[in-house]
Amino acid sequence: MSDVQHDVIVIGGGPAGYAAALYGAGAGLDIGLVENRWIGGTCLNVGCIPAKELLETAHVYRTVRGAADFGINSSEPTVDWSVTMTRKQAIVDQLVGGLTGLLKGRKVTVYNGSGSLGTDHEVSVTGGASGDLSISARNVILATGSQPRTIPGFEVDGSLVVTSDEMLSIERLPSSAVVIGGGAIGCEFASMMADLGTEVTILEALPQILTGCDSDAAKVVQRSFKKRNITVRTGVMVQGHSPDRSGSSTVVTFGEGESVDVELVVVSVGRRPYSDLLDLVGTAVVVDERGFIEVDDLCRTGEAGVWAVGDLIKTPQLAHVGFAEGMLAIKDILGENPLPLDHLGTPWCIYCHPEVAFAGYTEDAAIAAGYEVVTSSHRFIGNGRAKIIGETDGIVKVVAEKLPDGTGGRILGVHMVGPWVTEQLGQGYLAVNWEATVDEVAAFIQPHPTMSELFGETILSLTGRSLHG
Ligand code: NAI
Repeated sequence: MSDVQHDVIVIGGGPAGYAAALYGAGAGLDIGLVENRWIGGTCLNVGCIPAKELLETAHVYRTVRGAADFGINSSEPTVDWSVTMTRKQAIVDQLVGGLTGLLKGRKVTVYNGSGSLGTDHEVSVTGGASGDLSISARNVILATGSQPRTIPGFEVDGSLVVTSDEMLSIERLPSSAVVIGGGAIGCEFASMMADLGTEVTILEALPQILTGCDSDAAKVVQRSFKKRNITVRTGVMVQGHSPDRSGSSTVVTFGEGESVDVELVVVSVGRRPYSDLLDLVGTAVVVDERGFIEVDDLCRTGEAGVWAVGDLIKTPQLAHVGFAEGMLAIKDILGENPLPLDHLGTPWCIYCHPEVAFAGYTEDAAIAAGYEVVTSSHRFIGNGRAKIIGETDGIVKVVAEKLPDGTGGRILGVHMVGPWVTEQLGQGYLAVNWEATVDEVAAFIQPHPTMSELFGETILSLTGRSLHG
């Protein structure tokens, strides 16, 4: 028999879980939220937020170093890493505090402990400050997130070998580092460390860094990294590493007998779903061989009345996808017949320097899906505002359906690399998801001078006429 009954129990307090809790409570549901570590999950505590804070520190450093170009003279800047870490933690703590207050304000009951699901929607809460208890609900949402993957030969010790979890709290910046995996996490850490003076080598197994991005966009990032002395090696496998006697550096072996001697190894080879403590015995919830929970397009598991959302399921592992899935599950619980999410249109934002942002088909994916496409790319080097801020590396590329006269029809994909593109993607995202055509979007005025003019220019040129390009 359970001690407490709720309308909905959410297990996991990261973006997917807390979105479900806040949204559900806002709709009048009585919610219990079970979390065994920290409210805010990976995103707030050891993911998006602290990583972007460190990237912003790198941005400030770059700006101060380049200040003389603007006629602002200052002495060579130095990095006080302890101040950076304190600032990062203060931002994390404020956001976690704010979220905790929001949950309280909406009368969500938060249980501190590990939640596991048994039969009849019974959730056991154990091992935390709330003590051991059994709670139940008509509906259960599983949202226990993911953990960094590791690879054999690179056991994480927190000093020589780290994942993003430890990296975000390292005590000092290394003078040299290897980043294994050139995905979003790898490129963000590589960019941050390189800007702050670390000699960085990225070792990526696949032929391109940032797999999943349009290949033209990935090439721009790779060229920019090269200019900043980041060594990018693609198509190489790592074998292992041998620390020196003092344990202050290690030799990483890779490829055909190559090696590099570094002070830090950052393992960023993906994240695995974290369903380990959920138990699920006696339920019809299906976990696949990689640990992902199987769901339908409304995030329903095999067990009636049980949903799974966020990094625990095989959809893009992004906080904003988690938010959307948490809200989707609540709408389904409320019987509102929600539409499934269209993950092809998901906005992606990667915060390395230069930033990357995109939504919709890449050129290759559109062709593979059977579209006849026309594309246009414009470079930030020709954009007034980009020149003014002194950041001209980057492009906007639009992929559109090709009309019989060779001009662009429906906008299939928008790909951006460059300054503040994570903040500029909005109109590209809307164009793709609204299934807008080139002509429709070209009719809108872009404010001048802005970097977003480049998007307008790129769209305009797909009409067959253009202004500057
Ligand atoms: P990822 O899957 O994006 O990239 C991992 C990379 O490691 C891949 O390119 C893969 O080919 C490579 N790799 C795997 N095993 C390897 C090996 N043994 N040697 C060399 N390379 C190897 O994973 P990542 O970057 O760790 O990120 C995890 C998740 O978090 C992703 O889904 C990512 O999209 C998400 N994320 C998103 C961010 C953003 O959108 N700004 C920021 C951080 C994470």
